[in-house]
Amino acid sequence: MARARLIAGIILYIYVATHLINHALGILSLEAMEVGRDVFLAVWRNPIGGIVLYGAILTHVLLVLWSLYRRRTLRMPLREVLQISFGLLLPILLLEHIVATRGMHQIAGINDTYGYVLSTLWVSKPGSGALQSLALVLAWAHGSMGLYFWLRLKPWFGAVAPWLFAAVILMPVLALVGFVDGGRELVRLLEDDAFVDRLIATIGPADEAEVARGVLVLFWGRIVFGTLLGLVVLGRIGRWAVQQRAHMVTVTYADGRKIAMEPGATVLDASRRLGVPHASVCGGRGRCSTCRVHVSAGRESLPAPSSEESRVLLRVGASDATRLACQLRPTDDLTVAPLLGADATAKDGHRKSVTNQGAEREVAILFADIRSFTAFSEKKLPYDVVFVLNQYFRTMGGAVEQAGGQLDKFIGDGVMALFGIETDAAAGCRAAIEGARRMAIGLKELNENLKNDLPEPLRIGIGIHVGSVIVGDMGYAATRSITAIGDPVNTASRLESLNKDYVSQLVVSGDVAERAGIDLSIHRSESVEVRGRAEPLQVFILNDASALKELVRA
Ligand code: FES
Repeated sequence: MARARLIAGIILYIYVATHLINHALGILSLEAMEVGRDVFLAVWRNPIGGIVLYGAILTHVLLVLWSLYRRRTLRMPLREVLQISFGLLLPILLLEHIVATRGMHQIAGINDTYGYVLSTLWVSKPGSGALQSLALVLAWAHGSMGLYFWLRLKPWFGAVAPWLFAAVILMPVLALVGFVDGGRELVRLLEDDAFVDRLIATIGPADEAEVARGVLVLFWGRIVFGTLLGLVVLGRIGRWAVQQRAHMVTVTYADGRKIAMEPGATVLDASRRLGVPHASVCGGRGRCSTCRVHVSAGRESLPAPSSEESRVLLRVGASDATRLACQLRPTDDLTVAPLLGADATAKDGHRKSVTNQGAEREVAILFADIRSFTAFSEKKLPYDVVFVLNQYFRTMGGAVEQAGGQLDKFIGDGVMALFGIETDAAAGCRAAIEGARRMAIGLKELNENLKNDLPEPLRIGIGIHVGSVIVGDMGYAATRSITAIGDPVNTASRLESLNKDYVSQLVVSGDVAERAGIDLSIHRSESVEVRGRAEPLQVFILNDASALKELVRA
């Protein structure tokens, strides 16, 4: 279906492009517009061109309405809101123009030349002219967005993007200039009675009955589109009512956040409803793979991936535990972790996943631990300890995921997270430092919220190091998760414990700062001995990680 929608969309885009080019010929002359129109009609107004064009319109409109019905949440990025809104406005705006030109040509044999169209849209009804110009720009913008979401996944897109962007901006501008020039030329020509007689003779007559039929076609066209749109709205309401009584599916995230969803909703819908930052470069069309998630529990009851999803998963070498969040519609409870950060790009969607057979990777490893928590837990009721810890894990887990990291595990009151598994070491180091910054900010907010429950504010120590580790999907049954093994893991853990000695909040190795490309030289620096390393390790020591500059946008 996605493919059919894409092909239909491309056909319509080509149609709009040729229409814009035809308009732009008005910069030369009205006559050039008419000659261009002859070519335009030779392509689009013949039996084959007609079937292709109207087939594409029907396919595209119906599939868009179907996808609007299937969507479980209307929460989506602004770019998708704009694209869908433009698309829905088009039939409403364009129907009158289509009936007045192609429709009247069919009904009354009207020759809908540029002279005919401009005498209406420029001379007698300039308001409609402005509206149609707007519709053409919206159609172009709608198509260009769709094309962009598709093409930006191609490896070569970056090289040609500036040229394509220039063409996308230039086309409607030239078309509007051509439309204005053509209209102004027509106004001049209308002062000549002989031209007016020729124009009327070229257009041909339409009697009242034929005009009335045109109006009827327009009326029914609007009714049909309005009914289809109404059916989508009613369908959504009906489904919502039925689902109020249906068995709900719980989607749990690595940081403990969970949401109950109706069966049929995708995991990406769940993330959007819950506000979990989740990459979706292709807008949920199952093409980019950036929404992929690791399913750590509930795998046995998952529906099998479709052939399209399997193809994309195969392309990135994903493991059995990896699925595309935008295509996965769970029927039973499951636990997932997005594998890429929310700021993932199309390029990340082409990288081979390391979660399959395991791989040696350079990643950034972050450890965080609460200071003096044992003393706190001894003085509190178990309920209070669990309550505070869960709030803490949620805050830390959220910070890691927002920065694009993978929660590896919670160990007692500690957290281990990995950054850069699916990207590279430089991106991983930047994300890890950003993760530490977000953790520190989150901790301040948490302390504020829990000030009545805590004898003193919680303090944490964070350690970050980078190095080559073995990364893979390890464990048994429900405890399987993506984890890392190797000396750098132990080093990161050691750096975390150094915070006790330095009474600091963050100890980060010089390697991490270098890879991240950030200058931490204003902070205290030490050379430390770490067990298992022959050379001392340079580290930076920060008392407040929240003061760091923001590095990654969620
Ligand atoms: S959002 Fe692109 S594959 Fe899911």
